[in-house]
Amino acid sequence: MSLNRNKITIVGAGNVGASCASWIIERNLADVVLLDIPETKNMPKGKALDMLQMSPISNTHCKIIGTTNYELTASSDICVITAGVPRKPGMSREDLVATNQGIVQTVVKNLTQYSPQTILIIVTNPLDSMCYVALKASNFPKNRVIGQAGVLDSARMRTFISQELGISVENIHASVIGGHGDEMVPLIRYSTICGLPLSHFLSKEKINEIVDRTRKGGSELVNLLGISAWYAPGAAAGFMVEAILKDKKIILPCSAFLEGEYGLSNLYFGVLGILGNHGLEKIIDIPLNEEEQQLLKKSAGLIQETMKSLK
Ligand code: NAI
Ligand code: 2OP
Repeated sequence: MSLNRNKITIVGAGNVGASCASWIIERNLADVVLLDIPETKNMPKGKALDMLQMSPISNTHCKIIGTTNYELTASSDICVITAGVPRKPGMSREDLVATNQGIVQTVVKNLTQYSPQTILIIVTNPLDSMCYVALKASNFPKNRVIGQAGVLDSARMRTFISQELGISVENIHASVIGGHGDEMVPLIRYSTICGLPLSHFLSKEKINEIVDRTRKGGSELVNLLGISAWYAPGAAAGFMVEAILKDKKIILPCSAFLEGEYGLSNLYFGVLGILGNHGLEKIIDIPLNEEEQQLLKKSAGLIQETMKSLK
């Protein structure tokens, strides 16, 4: 590891964690520690060595190590938590709550012992509830505990629009807010193609189809793969890491702790926020019409329901 480079720890060297590590290393963003439980034996070491051997090919020099020892995570600038059990076919995100709550609590306690100033990015599902668990377990200010969901969900929506129209994703802007579940809220009014509304290019029926497919984006992949997705989820977490490290002040949809915004309090929920060196630096309150408010309320209701099973 270098004294001059940033340090990122990724906990959970499974599909999403390894994919996120690879995304960061390939962009030469920071040194990475990839950590998993002792039961995985040499797996984190093996994945890290494999990724390190990409460096002569990709002409990068950031280091990556795999370990099961938290001491090696000390003084990490950002910690990404992907540790947990993934969703299997027929299993809802909420089914995961009991197992993953215990895992997230343990991981956060261990990480914060060695990196008390770090920023936590949570990926483990059920996402919004696990962010809440991490906030409580860390005792961190809310700007330093952020969840990844909206970057992925918006990327899925942009991809579907691009596929439909044959227009580059670069021209397509989409914002998906709300909880990371089937009741997430793709904001049609605030999604645009080169500044033009979606309705300029797509029929109402097509837009509804895309909204529906976005909401079920995770399940579509679980049904295809037999397990949940990892390439785009890993990249989405990596994108948030990059935004924070580079102090980009970029507005991204992310899961944030709400204290009155959108009329909601004491829960993590997907909203637009500014990401920079201090983590989630500001939540952007956007005006919503009656229909959008109702959709958001329904989505929040699902999160609140899941949170009831937190111990
Ligand atoms: P995976 O099973 O491939 O990897 C999870 C890893 O966590 C395993 O290697 C496991 O050994 C490790 N782990 C379990 N307990 C641990 C502990 N106490 N400490 C450290 N490591 C521990 O699963 P995958 O596909 O990587 O998914 C990880 C999580 O991310 C799941 O909860 C999944 O539902 C969630 N996910 C969230 C997304 C989002 O957008 N927020 C998108 C995709 C997945
Ligand atoms: C996804 O959206 C399962 O949360 C995971 O792919």
